[in-house]
This record gives sequence, structure tokens and C-alpha cells, in this order.
Amino acid sequence: MQIDVILGLQWGDEGKGKIVDYLAEQYDIVARFQGGPNAGHTLKFGGNKYILHTVPSGIFRPQQINLVGNGVVLDPVIFQRELEKLDASGVQFHDRLLLSRKAHLILPTHRWLDAASEAHKGKSKIGSTLKGIGPTYMDKTGRNGLRVGDVEQSGFKEQYEHLKQKHLELLKIYPPVPFDLEGEEKAWFASLDTLRSLPFVDSEYYIDEALRAGKRVLAEGAQGAMLDIDFGTYPFVTSSNTITAGVCTGLGVAPQRIGRVIGITKAYCTRVGSGPFPTELHDADGDKLREAGHEFGSTTGRPRRCGWIDLPQLRYTIQLTGTTDLCITKIDVLNSFKTIAAATHYRYNGQESSALPYDLCQVEVEALLKHYDGWECDLDEVHRMEDLPENARAFLADLEAYLGVPIHMVSTGPEREKLLVKEG
Ligand code: GDP
Ligand code: IMO
Ligand code: MG
Repeated sequence: MQIDVILGLQWGDEGKGKIVDYLAEQYDIVARFQGGPNAGHTLKFGGNKYILHTVPSGIFRPQQINLVGNGVVLDPVIFQRELEKLDASGVQFHDRLLLSRKAHLILPTHRWLDAASEAHKGKSKIGSTLKGIGPTYMDKTGRNGLRVGDVEQSGFKEQYEHLKQKHLELLKIYPPVPFDLEGEEKAWFASLDTLRSLPFVDSEYYIDEALRAGKRVLAEGAQGAMLDIDFGTYPFVTSSNTITAGVCTGLGVAPQRIGRVIGITKAYCTRVGSGPFPTELHDADGDKLREAGHEFGSTTGRPRRCGWIDLPQLRYTIQLTGTTDLCITKIDVLNSFKTIAAATHYRYNGQESSALPYDLCQVEVEALLKHYDGWECDLDEVHRMEDLPENARAFLADLEAYLGVPIHMVSTGPEREKLLVKEG
């Protein structure tokens, strides 16, 4: 069997959680392959809303195994809180939420370092979620990190102390930021018991065996391809590979095992945190998108920056991820617009281009827009793609033609059932 992938094609928050939750029923295993509690994946069904940070979005489907892969960085305190909420919602997860032993742990001092580093950067800060993501991946690649499997080892406490001391030394180069280390450490060590209560697995073997046994596996991405450490708007990115290549390293599967890649994009575009955003709107349309789309961060509550859909940007991330199927979310947010737009080209350095410049952070890019008539009605009664209003269909057909990948799904609301799926 092959492993299918769901990932974001923009700067995150494309609606990955909702789509994974919907599709999970068709799979045996849902596996997160990168990122950490910087992610906030929202699911809505049965009149309730759930936000997941570390736990894969297949957890509400009772038959599915959910796996936190080795590419993930895990904060046991945040994880414990997530599990308490699942418990309170009556979700049984104990035998079907598995942790990779090779996933790295976020220590309290990683969060402290994140805050200190951002304070040090001042105006040029990344706008990180302050969850300790950057410092934890730095320790991973610097070969200093602590892993989930280490909590089973006898030398764990010494390893922890050693790394903490290193962090305390490092913190001296930054301006002081307040942090209750003692309190945070106490909560951290207490939360390890919750971690230990779940099965640890060697997930590369686990997934290999599952695929050989004919099981269907869905890999769930966090963030979006424009936040990829290598190909995103560096340095305003996260610290992991969010593209499909991240599935291979973040779960331990070989490239030829990758099957469908479902790339998700909103029908417009958002970004939270600092960094370039060619189609950003600073006008009433931007405010309207934010309001209609409830564009406030699921993890930090920050208002998201809003703009039109950016087709050169999407062509780039479709290429990088090998997207085979597109899913367009939040099309309903455009319902009341008389006119909508999409960037089809950029103008920079005196030329038009549909390619991204080397450094979007340094080059002034003008997004060249194409305008479309809106449909100006709600989509609540639309249950099939063919029944979308004519102007919505024309807009989607144009996106499909420009991007060269079929649109397989269109999401018309936050709820699980508000999804149009192409038949066949
Ligand atoms: P993720 O990080 O990619 O999982 O996305 P988030 O959960 O951070 O942000 C997506 C937001 O849009 C959430 O509040 C979802 O409930 C909501 N959402 C998802 N799909 C749709 C949709 O089709 N229409 C509307 N209006 N909201 C949606
Ligand atoms: P989901 O999975 C949107 C952004 C932060 C910041 C940058 C680096 O919900 O789509 P980090 O904390 O990773 O060091 O922050 O990346 N960012 C996200 N933006 N959605 C996310 O996740 C994000 N995770 C990180 O705002 O600009
Ligand atoms: Mg999110």
C-alpha cells in the first residue's frame, strides 16, 4: 500500500484538521509527520468545536489508530492538556494513540529560549507561536535533543539537567524575559506520566508493517508549504519540512511509498506572524475576509493577515509537494463579495513573472490580479460541486486550469459535513 498525504499549500491554517477528520474514516492510521504545538487544527461536528495541537485529527473517529511521528516535536504539558480535553469529551484514545520513540521533546527552557530569541530580534521577530519549536529543532539537528523514548531510560534525569544547563548558559546572550522555570519544570515532569501511559512505538517499523499488511495510512501535515524551512519565505518560516519530503523523514517512509498528495488551499489567503505576503489586503476587503472567515489564530488568537488567493505561490508549492488533488476550503467566506480576485502573476525587477523571486523578503513584488464576479449568495443548500452557483464554478475552473491539478474537494463551511467531494 501507499501512504496518502494531506498538507497545507499556503502559510498554514488552510483547514487541514477539518479535511483530515473527514477523510480519516477511509484510513486505518492517521499520522502526524512534523511540527508541534505551534499547530492548531480545528474540527467541528455535532455542534462542538475541538482544537488539536499535537494529537492527529483522526482521533475522533473511533476505529482509527493515530500516530505522532518522529518528525514531530512534542510538549508533554500541552499534550497532557489535549488528552484531558479528549477525556472530558468522552473520546477513548488509550490504545489507539501511539507515540514515536524518536519524536523530540520540547523542554520548558526551549520555550524560554524561543521567547528570549524573539525579544532579542525586536522588530524583525519571526512572530513565532512561542511554543519552543525553533529551539527544539535546533537541538535535534545540533544532536543535543531529548526524545520521547529517552523517558524510558534510566539516565533521563541527567540528560535533562545537562540540556537545561546548556540552555541556561545560552539564555545569557539574550535580554532577560520573565519565566517561572521552577513552576514550568514541575508541570513538565508531572506530565511525563501521561506520556508514559501511552504506547511508544518504533514508528518506522510500525508503518512499514502496516503498509505491508494492506493498511491504509494518511499522513497529516502541520503549517503550510510556504512555512517550510527550506522553501518557505525564509527566515519567516517554521523549523521543519512541511512539504511531502517531510513525510519521508518525519515518519520513516521511502519516497516511492507516497501515494496521493492532497494539497489544501483556502479560496483566498492568510498568514499569521511576520514575513512577506504578496497579495495581502490592507483595505476593507481584507477586513471583510478576516471577519467572514473568523481569521484569528487557533493557537495564539492573533488576528490573521488576509489577502486574495495567490496562484504563482500555489503553483510553486504544488510543484514542491507533488500535489495530485486539490482541496479548496472556505469558499463560503467569499459569498458576499461582489467581486473577488486572484493573483496570476507577479511584477518585480521591472518584469512580469509567474515564478517566485529568490528572496521574497528582499524584493518588492507587485501581485497582478485577475478579477471575477462573485456569486453573492450562501452555499448552505449546495451538496454537490455541480450545484455550486455558476460564478463559483467559473472561478474554480479557472483555478484548476491555472494550477494544472484537479480540484477534488470544496469546503463550504467549518462543519464536518460541509464538504463537496467530486465523484469518481
Ligand atoms: P488548520 O490549521 O489547517 O487545521 O486550520 P485551522 O483550524 O487553524 O483554521 C481553519 C479555520 O477555518 C477553523 O476555524 C475551521 O473551523 C474553519 N474552516 C475550515 N473549513 C472551513 C470552510 O470551508 N468554511 C469556513 N467558513 N470555515 C472553515
Ligand atoms: P497550522 O498547523 C499558521 C507560523 C508562526 C510564525 C512562524 C514560525 O495550524 O496550520 P513557530 O512557532 O513555528 O516557530 O512560528 O510560523 N506558524 C503558523 N502559522 N498555522 C500554523 O500551524 C503555524 N505554525 C507556525 O505564526 O509566523
Ligand atoms: Mg491552524
